[in-house]
Amino acid sequence: MEERMISAEAHGLEDSIDQSIRPLKLEQYIGQEKVKKNLSIFMEAAKMREECLDHVLLYGPPGLGKTTLSGIIAAEMGVQMRTTSGPAIERPGDLAAILTSLEPGDVLFIDEIHRLNRMVEEVLYPAMEDFCLDIVIGKGPTARSVRLDLPPFTLVGATTRAGMLSAPLRDRFGVLARLEYYTEAELAIIVSRTADIFQTSIDDDAAGEIARRSRGTPRIANRLLRRVRDFAQVKGDGTITLTLAQNALRDLQVDALGLDHIDHKLLFGMIEKYRGGPVGLETISATIGEEPDTIEDVYEPYLLQIGFIQRTPRGRVVTAACYQHFNLEVPN
Ligand SMILES: Nc1ncnc2c1ncn2[C@@H]1O[C@H](COP(=O)(O)OP(=O)(O)OP(=O)(O)O)[C@@H](O)[C@H]1O
Ligand SMILES: [Mg+2]
Repeated sequence: MEERMISAEAHGLEDSIDQSIRPLKLEQYIGQEKVKKNLSIFMEAAKMREECLDHVLLYGPPGLGKTTLSGIIAAEMGVQMRTTSGPAIERPGDLAAILTSLEPGDVLFIDEIHRLNRMVEEVLYPAMEDFCLDIVIGKGPTARSVRLDLPPFTLVGATTRAGMLSAPLRDRFGVLARLEYYTEAELAIIVSRTADIFQTSIDDDAAGEIARRSRGTPRIANRLLRRVRDFAQVKGDGTITLTLAQNALRDLQVDALGLDHIDHKLLFGMIEKYRGGPVGLETISATIGEEPDTIEDVYEPYLLQIGFIQRTPRGRVVTAACYQHFNLEVPN
C-alpha cells in the first residue's frame, strides 16, 4: 500500500513521529481493557511488595501496541526500558552484556522474541528464573561453571507468533497478554487524539471513517491519518472533513473495509488462479510476490478475522463472504 511510496528517509521520520504520538501512561492507552485491568493489578501488587513485575509476554498481530505497552509498563513502574530484538542478539555473550548492564528493576524489552536462537535462549532461562547467569570458564577438562548474580529485572517479550515460542521459554513468563484488534470506536478515539497532537482539526465522522478502514490496527489508523492530513493541507483548508477523508482514502486505494491493493491482489490471486482454493501459503506467496512470513503475519490475520479466508489442512480458502463483498458469484 502507500508504504511502498515512503522512502527510507521518510521511515526515520515516521519513527520520530511515532515517538511523539505514543501514549506514555496506561490511562492514555486506548482499548485492550482486559489486559490493562490485569496489568494494573499486577503492577500495583509488585510495587506494594517492592519487587519488580513478573515477566510479561505480549502477543498479537503487528501494530496493535506491544512496543507502546512495554514502554508504558516501564514508565508506570518508574524504571528504565532497554530495547532489543530476537534477531539482534546473535550470541549468548550479547545477551549477557545486556543483562549485566541493567539497573535493578529495569524492563528489558525483546521484540520478535520468537526469533531468539537456541543458545541465547538457554542463557535467558536462569536469568528469568533466578536472576543469574551461568558462565563457563575455560575449555576441556579444566572448564568450570561460574554463577553470576544479575539485578532483578522484568523481561517484556513481544511476538506476533506466540506459537513459535519454545515451550520452556513461554512457561517462564508469569503474565501472558494477548492483544486484540481494536473496535472502530476505540480507533476513532486514537485518530482524534493523534490529530490533536498534530494540531489538525478533524470532524468526528471523518475520524470514524478513518477508524473503519484501519483494519482494527492503531498503527494503520495513525498512518492513514497522516496521509489524509496531507490531502487536507493541499486540497482543502487543513481541516479533515468526512468528504475529504473519503476522497483521500479512495485515492490511497483503501477500500471501505480498509483492504488495500495487496489484500486485493492476494484475494483475487486466489479467486482467479485457484478458484478460491484450497491453496498453500507458498503458492500464494509465489503468485503475488510477497514473502510467506509477511502474508502470514501482516495480511492474513485480518482477513481471517473478518472471515474472508479460512485456513484448512489443505490450504487457504476464500469464503462466500469475500465473494459477496466483491459482488462475485460464489463458485460451487
Ligand atoms: N492502545 C493504544 N492507544 C493509542 N495509540 C496506540 C495504542 N496502541 C498503539 N498505538 C499507536 O499505534 C502505533 C503502533 O504501536 P506499536 O508500535 O506499539 O505496535 P506494535 O504492536 O509494537 O507493533 P509491531 O508488532 O509491528 O512492533 C504507535 O504509533 C502507537 O502510538
Ligand atoms: Mg513494535
